[in-house]
Amino acid sequence: AQITVNVNTAQKGHEVSPELYGIFYEDINHAADGGLYAELVRNRSFEDNTKAAEHWATVGQSALQLTAKGLLNAKQHQALLVTFRQAGDGISNEGFWGIPVVQGRCYRLSFWAKGKLKGQLRAVLTDATGKHAFASASFAGKSFGNKWTRYEAELVADGNDSRGQLQFLADGKGQLTFDVVSLFPPAFRNRQNGLRPELAGMLYDLHPKFLRFPGGCFVEGQDSPDNAFRWERTIGPVEQREGHWNVNWGYRTTDGLGFDEYLQLAEDLHAKPLYVVNVGIWHGGYTPLDSIQPWIDETMNALEYANGPVTSKYGALRAKNGHPEPYNIQYLEIGNENNQPDQRQQSDHYYERFKLFRDAVLKKYPDMHIIGNVAAWGTDEPKWESKEQTELVDEHYYRSPAWFAEHFHHYDNYDRRGPKVYVGEYAVTQGFGQVGDLNAALGEAVFMMGMENNSDIVRMASYAPIFANVNETRWRPDMIQYDATRVLGTPSYYVQKMMADNVGTRTVSTTLTNPYQIAEAQQQVKPQVCRVGVGTWATQASFAQPSLSAGDGKVEQVGGKVDIRGTWQQANGIVSQQSASEGALRLNPQRTDGNEYTYHVRARKDGGAEGFLV
Ligand code: AHR
Repeated sequence: AQITVNVNTAQKGHEVSPELYGIFYEDINHAADGGLYAELVRNRSFEDNTKAAEHWATVGQSALQLTAKGLLNAKQHQALLVTFRQAGDGISNEGFWGIPVVQGRCYRLSFWAKGKLKGQLRAVLTDATGKHAFASASFAGKSFGNKWTRYEAELVADGNDSRGQLQFLADGKGQLTFDVVSLFPPAFRNRQNGLRPELAGMLYDLHPKFLRFPGGCFVEGQDSPDNAFRWERTIGPVEQREGHWNVNWGYRTTDGLGFDEYLQLAEDLHAKPLYVVNVGIWHGGYTPLDSIQPWIDETMNALEYANGPVTSKYGALRAKNGHPEPYNIQYLEIGNENNQPDQRQQSDHYYERFKLFRDAVLKKYPDMHIIGNVAAWGTDEPKWESKEQTELVDEHYYRSPAWFAEHFHHYDNYDRRGPKVYVGEYAVTQGFGQVGDLNAALGEAVFMMGMENNSDIVRMASYAPIFANVNETRWRPDMIQYDATRVLGTPSYYVQKMMADNVGTRTVSTTLTNPYQIAEAQQQVKPQVCRVGVGTWATQASFAQPSLSAGDGKVEQVGGKVDIRGTWQQANGIVSQQSASEGALRLNPQRTDGNEYTYHVRARKDGGAEGFLV
């Protein structure tokens, strides 16, 4: 495919937003533990499972038992009691799909332990079989006792294995309880409790102007507010961090990559931190509007921690944790993907929540750039439908390569009188091959050029998500993929880099042909609209056939026979005539109030359909 761009430099446009290209980090697909966070020991605090010490194994005749007795501190809920029955007994940790051992590399080991042991305890970095030692350090048995003590050592490897182990082996009999066992390779910019250099380096190479964190759904959590990101439990010494269940993405996080580490990363990338806060809504529940003050307080405390003087309560805590200078958060997003049509019908009161948060924040930080949520799924034209002022709205687009290419002009006629736009999440998520491909990247590139052309209104944009450990990927595609030793940037990553490296300062007049050769007239065709009465489909509808899938979750096929006729528009812009087809439709949520509702229903190129309430 070939793109032709004709440039008329004589006709100058607007200045390109200096903050246009940033990054969006979320702990998804083991983006933190097992990813960017450089910790090599998996389940270091023995909190991953209440029944078994996952990712730990016995060596020899030793016995392992999780214990909740005499814990290190109140933040730890379990520790590992190891009985060494004979010399050579021990435990081993497999890391995150292997501990990468590299010759000459110096690893920092630390662990907490108490108990009694005859002889020595040896910490050993081994190969995949556990038989060959690359480095070891010894701790005298007599130094252990009833009091928890932190031990540390440096291990310099004299060989290589991508799937190494960390073992603790005893010279004789005894019983020791372990907690917070940690092994770090040298980290990005040599930070303590730092980040995996290759991954952080790839972020650095994007020269992002801002870093949105910590999510995503990760901000919201699922099932319980305990499973949301709560900044206060992610600061301070790692043994004081409780960790939490990242239910959205299916694993427990240590919160070792916490509020300070995110802000430190932004600083190291020379990017402005953009913090997303929870407005008292998680997947599956919410705090009623009249009880959300604690969430507002949590936000205000976070901002004081990040921005306050060292004389303030939380500013002093920041200094105590090693960063006396303020981090200077200037961008705050109020909620993630809240204000969605379905939630609005359940009255999540987003706009009321937004106002309370915004007013509290601007009162103390009048220069804060405030970002609001608009519908993220099921509409190409999300709208801010409130009289409450927001500087920016966060739009999300997960679509096909063709959709992106066709939406080069998406913002050309966007209403310039309302809030500015932050395209906080976008990526090709349909038809992208296994891990992303050039076609996907091209579609994104065309859309990015459209954003850049309109960056008087589109002030900021970030691809999503960034990271995936290939051993456990829940969301595809992701622009940086890795295992313990290897890292891959997809074509989408290199498009992000190319665009960020070559961002201009001012637009000029251009015309282009895109690789999909969509006629302008076809691009302008609007989706069909169908009116739906209770239990009947009143007029013509625009559905894909033969099968109709849930689309964005608001239109479902439930079987039976229904007459679906009329014109429909494929995502590639082609308009087709269709007559009757099999299948019945159900609105989700069901409507029984006797009113008529207008739905946009549009065919997708993959044969499914997507619909949304107008
Ligand atoms: O980027 C993956 C997810 O997509 C994010 O967590 C969420 O904001 C969106 O639904």
